[in-house]
Amino acid sequence: MSVFKHHKHLETNVFFLAVGILLCVIVGGLVEVVPLFHIESTIEKVDGVRPYSPLEQAGRDIYVREGCYNCHSQMIRPFKDEVERYGHYSLAAESKYDHPFQWSSKRTGPDLARVGGKYTNDWHVRHMINPRDVVPESIMPGYPHLMRALDTSSIQGNMTALKIVGVPYTDAQIANAVKDLTEQASSDSPDAAVLKSYPKARMGDVDGDPKKVTEMDALVAYLQVLGTMVDFTKVKPETIRR
Ligand code: HEC
Repeated sequence: MSVFKHHKHLETNVFFLAVGILLCVIVGGLVEVVPLFHIESTIEKVDGVRPYSPLEQAGRDIYVREGCYNCHSQMIRPFKDEVERYGHYSLAAESKYDHPFQWSSKRTGPDLARVGGKYTNDWHVRHMINPRDVVPESIMPGYPHLMRALDTSSIQGNMTALKIVGVPYTDAQIANAVKDLTEQASSDSPDAAVLKSYPKARMGDVDGDPKKVTEMDALVAYLQVLGTMVDFTKVKPETIRR
C-alpha cells in the first residue's frame, strides 16, 4: 500500500522523522493536558470535603516536615486489591485542599489515605513513640520528639497562604486559628465552636496532657481525619457528579 511506501521515506529521513515525532508528541500532549485546564470537570463534586482545622493543618505540616511521605502514600488506586485492603479508592476532591498533595509514590508502609478512625488515639501515640510497642515486626522509625510543645506562631500565616492558593478559609477562621486549635486539642464537648467551623474534627487531648498542645496532638488529629470527610455509604460511584 502506498502509505507504507511513504512510511519508509519518513523513517529513513532524519528531518521528516523528527517533524513526525514532534507532531505526535504535540497532539498527544494536548489531548492529555487540555482537559485538565477545565479543573471543574476533573474534580468530582462530593459532599463533606472541608479545609483542615488549624490543628489538623499543623499536624499535616509535621507530616511533611518529618518526611512521612517517603514511606507512606495517600492515594488508593481504583484496583480491586487496593480497595479491599484500604477502602474506597481516593477521589480527586479529597485532596483538593492539600498543598502540596501527599499522594506520594512509595509504600514502605501502608497507604494512609483512609487511616482516620482505624485506630484509637492511644494506639497512634504509642505507635509514633515506638512503633515496635504495638507492631513488633515494624521497621518504622520512632518519633518520640513529637511530645514537645506545638509552635503555633506560624499557623495563621500558613492559613493565609493556603487561602491565597484557593483554600476557602474565612477571615474569622484565620483570626480564631489558635483558639480553635487549642479547643480541639483539649475539649471533648460536642458543642465546641471549632466543630461548627470544621465538622467531624476529632476532639480531645491525645497524649495525656490536656494543658499542653503538643506536636503529637496535631499529628494524630491529622491522621484521624484522613479519609473520613466523605461519607462513602452515601456515595455510589454512579452518583459521583462530574
Ligand atoms: C522508613 C519508613 C517509614 C517512615 C519514614 C514512616 N513510616 Fe509509618 N509505617 C512504616 C511501616 C513499615 C509501617 C507498617 C508497620 C507498622 O504499623 O508500624 C508503618 C505504619 C504506619 C501507620 C499504621 C498504618 C496502618 O494502617 O496500620 C501509621 C499511622 C504510620 N505509619 C504513620 C507514620 C507517620 C505519621 C510517619 C511520619 C511521622 C511515618 N509513619 C513514617 C514505615 C514508615
